[in-house]
Amino acid sequence: MKCKVYITSEIFPDLLSLLPANRYDVTMRRDDSPVLSDRDLETICNSHDAIITNVSNNISSQIIKKTKRLKVISNIAVGFDNIDVTSATHNQIAVTITPDTLDQSVAEFAVGLLLNATKNVGFHQNKHLSEAPKPWAPTIGLGLELRNRAVGIIGLGNIGKNIGSILHYGFGMKINYLLNKEEKRLPYPTSPMKKEAFFKNNDIFIISCPLNEETKHLINGQSIKMMPQNSILVNVARGGIIDQKALEKNLDKFRALALDVATPDPLPKNHPLWKNTKLFITPHIGSATEIARRKMCEKALLNVLQVVENGYISCPNTINSF
Ligand code: GLV
Repeated sequence: MKCKVYITSEIFPDLLSLLPANRYDVTMRRDDSPVLSDRDLETICNSHDAIITNVSNNISSQIIKKTKRLKVISNIAVGFDNIDVTSATHNQIAVTITPDTLDQSVAEFAVGLLLNATKNVGFHQNKHLSEAPKPWAPTIGLGLELRNRAVGIIGLGNIGKNIGSILHYGFGMKINYLLNKEEKRLPYPTSPMKKEAFFKNNDIFIISCPLNEETKHLINGQSIKMMPQNSILVNVARGGIIDQKALEKNLDKFRALALDVATPDPLPKNHPLWKNTKLFITPHIGSATEIARRKMCEKALLNVLQVVENGYISCPNTINSF
C-alpha cells in the first residue's frame, strides 16, 4: 500500500518528485487560505500517514487523539509551538521541523525591521500618505544611527547569531544577549546579561527565540517597566513571547516597535495596533524568500521520506522520541 501524504498548502511543485510516485500518494491542497478547520484536520490526520503542515495550522491534542493512522507531522518551520508535541509523542507520531533553512533570511528581515523602526520609515510613510505631503525639513521625525549602539538579542540561536553578525560586522553595534542557560562563544564579541541587567541596560531589543513555557510572555508589564524610556522592540519570533495586553498598555514606553508576529497571528485587519504609527507591523513574513522557503519545503518532504523509510530515529529533524 502506498504511503498517503497530505500537504496543507501549495508548495513548489517540482519538489514533489522527492516522494517517489510508486511509493507515495501525495495530495497537495490548493486553496488561497492556508488555514484548515479542526474538522478537516481531523479527517486528514485520520486518513493519511503523513501531514506536511505549517504554522497556520494548530495540530492540537484533540486532533491528534482522534487519528489512528498518522505516523508523522512534518512542520514547514523551525518553530513547533503550533503542534501538541506531548500528545504526538504519546500517540507515537513523529514531529519533524526544518532547521538550517531560514536563519539568514529571518536575520536579514529582523535587521530590516530594526532599520524601519530606528529610521521611522512607517511613521514617515504614513504621514506622507495621510496628510498633505511635506517637503524636507531638518527636525521632523528623526531616527537613530546604529553605529556604536548596543542591541539586546533575546534568543542567540541560529537566527539570533546571524542577526548579531550582521549588526556587529555591518553596523558596528555592540551585541548583548539575554543569558539563558549557558554562555555562547561566537566569532564576534557578545555580552551575556541576566534578566534585570538585560532589560535595564539595553534600549534596543530583538526577539528571536522559540516560544515555549519559559519564553511565553517574557516581555510583560514587569520587563517593560525595567526597559529605558524610548526603547525599541523588534519581534521576528512568535507573538506569544510578548504579553500583548501589557504592551498595548505601555506603548508610551517605546520609541518604535516592529513586529512580524502578533497575537493572533497575523493581526486581524481591524486591530487597533495597525493604526498606531509607532508600530511597523508585517504578517509573519520573516522567512519569506524564495531560497528559504524552497529549502524549508524540501526539508519537510525529505523528513517525511526519512521517517517513513527508516524510522523517526534516523531523521535528525525529529524533535520527539517514544
Ligand atoms: C516560522 O515562523 C518558523 O518557525 O519557521
